[in-house]
Amino acid sequence: MNLAIVGTGYVGLTTGTCFAEVGHNVVCVDNNEEKVKSLWQGKMPIYEPDLEEMIVSNVSAGRLRFTTDLVSAVKECEIIFIAVPTPPHEDGSVDLSYIEGVSREIANALSLDLEYRIIVDKSTVPVSTGSKVQQVIERYACKGVKVDVVSNPEFLREGSAVHDLMNPDRIVIGADSLQAMDMMKRVYQPFNAPIVEVDLASAELIKHAANSFLALKISYINAVSAVCEKAGADVELVAMGIGLDKRISRHFLNAGLGYGGSCFPKDVKGFINVAEQLGSPMEILKEVERVNAAQLERFLGRIRKKMWVLRNKRIAVWGIAFKQNTDDVRESVAVKLIKRLCDEGAIVTAYDPKASETGARALEGYNVTICDDMYECARGAEVLVVATEWKQFAMANLVKLREVVRLPIIFDGRNIIHGENAIHAGFEYHSVGRKNLYPSDKKM
Ligand code: UGA
Repeated sequence: MNLAIVGTGYVGLTTGTCFAEVGHNVVCVDNNEEKVKSLWQGKMPIYEPDLEEMIVSNVSAGRLRFTTDLVSAVKECEIIFIAVPTPPHEDGSVDLSYIEGVSREIANALSLDLEYRIIVDKSTVPVSTGSKVQQVIERYACKGVKVDVVSNPEFLREGSAVHDLMNPDRIVIGADSLQAMDMMKRVYQPFNAPIVEVDLASAELIKHAANSFLALKISYINAVSAVCEKAGADVELVAMGIGLDKRISRHFLNAGLGYGGSCFPKDVKGFINVAEQLGSPMEILKEVERVNAAQLERFLGRIRKKMWVLRNKRIAVWGIAFKQNTDDVRESVAVKLIKRLCDEGAIVTAYDPKASETGARALEGYNVTICDDMYECARGAEVLVVATEWKQFAMANLVKLREVVRLPIIFDGRNIIHGENAIHAGFEYHSVGRKNLYPSDKKM
């Protein structure tokens, strides 16, 4: 099928590439000329495992193209996906101006010689956005052009986007027309995944409700982790014990410094806002946000308690990205932590395998040294903080680490370092929702 994707951000670029990978002809449209030029040259605007190779191979196979020309894309493609940003406003409501702008451009490009077009909303949007897009099309397009608007939310995670897109748990299609539903099912037929066929409004709600539920799960285990710390219990064991119940599941029960990124913080706020607008407030989500913010505060409090005063203390932070396998630092808890340490006068060094450039921009104006090597980052440190769950931190050579730090104290904000190994290497090991471990605790 001939598919156009408008917007080459995380969702648009990876979705378009995976559609090409399964055999569709895809044109990705972006109004940023530089970006389009770089994509043709195989230069990636983001780091995402496997994406670059897949783009290069699909471009050379002729199935994937990039352009700034939206009008031609609308003429050539039977289905047009909108994947532009939906950033939050100050009050938590969602800024839909990019969606509105692109819808109008698409409408203007729809001429009478086109038979039928489907416009698909892929961005995360509040319920009823689809019907507003439909209104825009009706208002601006040539009378007589038949257009259906569909909601097809995306569930990919940054850092595993290609894998998630190629192996989806489910595909959600919200359409109020049979013709649109049938064509959308043809798009997804090669993915061999269960398709949830629903109305437009339900599809939009599924996305907000899914992300908010995952955030709730994280806040739940983080709230449990606070109780574990007081009770001398181990949150990892509690998560395992409850997660084996299939109704609960172990996924997204990793306690830590809380959730960040460009999705959960924004989407929880967005859902709170939408529910309030509709007169059916979701108070439960306010508690999710409160727990999330408290998690970092409690962790900082524990570092403070240990070190007494943070001013002029050498603190090394491993991790700047909001999660592993990405260079994205938007709403990163690691960035917030580094800023807080700097504000308190600590001398901070930081290391991230992929997010040093994005991190340097996010930390502009803060007195932090970003290092190229994780052990160099830790050299001379009085505390080492693990802030992002990168695998290479979990696999660190703790003996080598012990040789470079000034004081052997680890605060693991993601529970990824093996505690027994840490104390064997001579470290004091502090984590989230578990007992502190000291070298004297080590078993022979
Ligand atoms: C999230 C959802 O997982 C995707 O399904 C959705 O498509 C995406 O938002 C979106 O709306 O576009 P993403 O934000 O890329 O994906 O990353 P996640 O893997 O969900 O992680 C989000 C945050 O939660 C990270 O800061 C991570 O460290 C944290 N997290 C995750 C935990 O603290 N504990 C966990 O158990 C899992």
